[in-house]
Amino acid sequence: MANERTLVLIKPDGVMKREIGEILTRFERKGLKIIGLKMLKVTIDTAERHYSVHKGKPFYGSLIEYITSGPVIAIAMEGDGSIAIVRKMIGSTDGAKAEPGTIRGDFSMSLNYNTVHASDSKESADYELLIFFSKGELLEFEMPDQKYI
Ligand code: CMP
Repeated sequence: MANERTLVLIKPDGVMKREIGEILTRFERKGLKIIGLKMLKVTIDTAERHYSVHKGKPFYGSLIEYITSGPVIAIAMEGDGSIAIVRKMIGSTDGAKAEPGTIRGDFSMSLNYNTVHASDSKESADYELLIFFSKGELLEFEMPDQKYI
């Protein structure tokens, strides 16, 4: 499987529910390598670039309003097949319908306040990573236990 980079955002509800550590722990335990991490307040401009594919949809306005409403954690991760693996770990979009054991399935009952976002393809990962991180902020390093993954 190809080594891939992907972006996860812990949305304001995940931060307010104090689940930052738990969510990071799940990805680390799985064997994903965190290569960039930051906490930020998303600006309207950044939100509009990040969610440009949803422009014109009925929920677009509330989506922009919500993601800019409070602190967000941006996580850049790397690993073989990481884009699909992370999508599987977060579960389906609506927290009320997401499988138990997934992040949304365990922490959310909502479509809007669904705790996390993750890139859904290589194309969106490449696009989204560079919205939240400069190239130099995505670190290249070896993990000591990488041979066990
Ligand atoms: P996210 O993965 O961040 O990508 C777009 C977000 O739009 C999605 O999670 C949901 O939180 C939000 N959203 C709100 N309404 C809808 C909808 N009807 N369909 C898809 N996404 C929606």
